[in-house]
Amino acid sequence: MKKVIVTGDRPTGKLHLGHYVGSIKNRVKLQDSGEYDEIYLLIADDQALTDNFMNPKKVRDNVIECVIFYLACGIDPNKTTILIQSQVPALTELTFYYMNLVSIARLLRNPTVKTEVKLRGFQESIPSGFLNYPVSQAADITAFDATLVPVGEDQMPMLEQCKEIVHSFNRIYGNTLVMPNAYLPENKVARRLPSLDGKNKMSKSLGNCIYLDDSDEEITKKVMTMYTDPNHLKVSDPGKVEGNVVFTYLDVFCTPEHFKKYLPDYKDLDELKEHYIKGGLGDVTIKKFLAQILIEIIKPIREKREELINNLDYVYDVIKKGTEKACQKANATLLRVKEAMGIDYFDNNKFLEEIKEKYKNNN
Ligand code: TRP
Repeated sequence: MKKVIVTGDRPTGKLHLGHYVGSIKNRVKLQDSGEYDEIYLLIADDQALTDNFMNPKKVRDNVIECVIFYLACGIDPNKTTILIQSQVPALTELTFYYMNLVSIARLLRNPTVKTEVKLRGFQESIPSGFLNYPVSQAADITAFDATLVPVGEDQMPMLEQCKEIVHSFNRIYGNTLVMPNAYLPENKVARRLPSLDGKNKMSKSLGNCIYLDDSDEEITKKVMTMYTDPNHLKVSDPGKVEGNVVFTYLDVFCTPEHFKKYLPDYKDLDELKEHYIKGGLGDVTIKKFLAQILIEIIKPIREKREELINNLDYVYDVIKKGTEKACQKANATLLRVKEAMGIDYFDNNKFLEEIKEKYKNNN
């Protein structure tokens, strides 16, 4: 069986460092591993519309932002098919058939949907389109015969729901859909990069992010506001590293090379932590170090992004071609589904033969 990856994002804002370590970096790694036969990256604009239907411009404006950031971060359109969800009609058709297999009670029990309903203030009247987005996500996953879906923890319930749909479909209509598996990136902290104040997850809606196109000055300024240890007042004071956002970030981002380059007095992060805990190491030193590391990561992305902005015909072409390729694959799955369900009336000559056979003796 082919090894196929499907992932996606809602196009609702600029991408930030949390997206980079939480998913994009990992996607580039999987893409370049050469272990997968096909990789699909969905810009889930239809899904974004389920809670932004009053503000379609926000979604439209961010579609191209997503593509530009993907390419700037190293997604290679020759290896990864980037597509716009709304332009693949088979996905909507599959969603409609899968809806028969899922009860409203089951959708209401989905923990991620529950949290989002509260967050969006939908309690009293949940739009049915929104409630159904996990079903549409199951269509995204199965349309491309995904075997692996790299996701964050908040997406696990979506994958569970998808597996249930695949299971029901195959049981009722015969073996048709490929069963996907979830894949969680190993680094636990990277899956949930904290905000600058350490209180939340980095999130564009809360405005506490370092963006992948921030200038060097903006990055430095933001790192300087990071939460450290409120009891570490003087340089000589002993400090805490747990809950200290600067160290959480260093855990995720710094490598031995960074020490050689920017802090050669220390061998590695353990040594730096030890000094901080003992006392005698100032916050400014560790913040400057982190800022240098983040600049080293973000600068090339920002520069590549600027290059792409000067070459928008190319970017447009990438998503147009990717979407066309995705349509072919999704149409093939839809055909399988329609055959399994017996609604393939005009897709082959089976139906015509069948009705002729049925009324054969009538004349
Ligand atoms: N729900 C995902 C998110 O909010 C986006 C998404 C849409 C997705 N379709 C998908 C992720 C298919 C993986 C596979 O991040």
